Amino acid sequence: MGGTNVRSTDVRPLQAAPGAPITHENPQRYPPPVTDPAYLQRMNDVLAVNYYGEVLTLELLARLLASPLAARHRTLLTRQLLDENRHAHAVRALLRSRGRDPVVDDRETDFTFHGVFQDFGQGSVEEALACVAENERLSSRNFSQILRIADAVDDPQVRSLYREILADEINHSNALMAVLPDDPAVIEARRDARTRMERSMSPRYLALYAAHHPDWLARQQGPGR
Ligand SMILES: [Fe+2]
Ligand SMILES: [Fe+2]
Repeated sequence: MGGTNVRSTDVRPLQAAPGAPITHENPQRYPPPVTDPAYLQRMNDVLAVNYYGEVLTLELLARLLASPLAARHRTLLTRQLLDENRHAHAVRALLRSRGRDPVVDDRETDFTFHGVFQDFGQGSVEEALACVAENERLSSRNFSQILRIADAVDDPQVRSLYREILADEINHSNALMAVLPDDPAVIEARRDARTRMERSMSPRYLALYAAHHPDWLARQQGPGR
């Protein structure tokens, strides 16, 4: 791996003691929840994965910001880090309002891209940026599907939260793609990150899609996939 090495830091902004509240969420923030327990279990499973996706993204951004970077990258990544921090808190707040705390009830490794993040976080700045950019793009696709499902089952809490998050992720994806250098090593890193992430899709997402997104399931099983 060429380029400037990303320096490791000890920044672990959301590794609070288990059960310790990070935010004091406003109970009025979200409208009343949907009550189907099977749906809630599947969606909460996915939200907990997404919580760690947000946390690992902001940890990777923090490491990038501790390394030598062009000024325009620093501004962009700082803005993105603040957004991901807000997303992580908001996802955790919604989960806690539903009786689940991902800091206690789930693990970082439940985010199935954690190995990809770890590997790319040890490479060059450009390779780490390529990984984050591809993750933002894939997340945007997955969060669009989450919104479709939340609409279909009438889950206003998830709809409200993911409308906000999706708009940010699309901005992050576009902004990162715009600054990534158009050289063969970066193109290869993007392809590699994308392929690895697509192959390690979370079983929790698969369970949610299988139960609530018949179109998606038919496409996976149908001919010409
Ligand atoms: Fe995010
Ligand atoms: Fe993002």
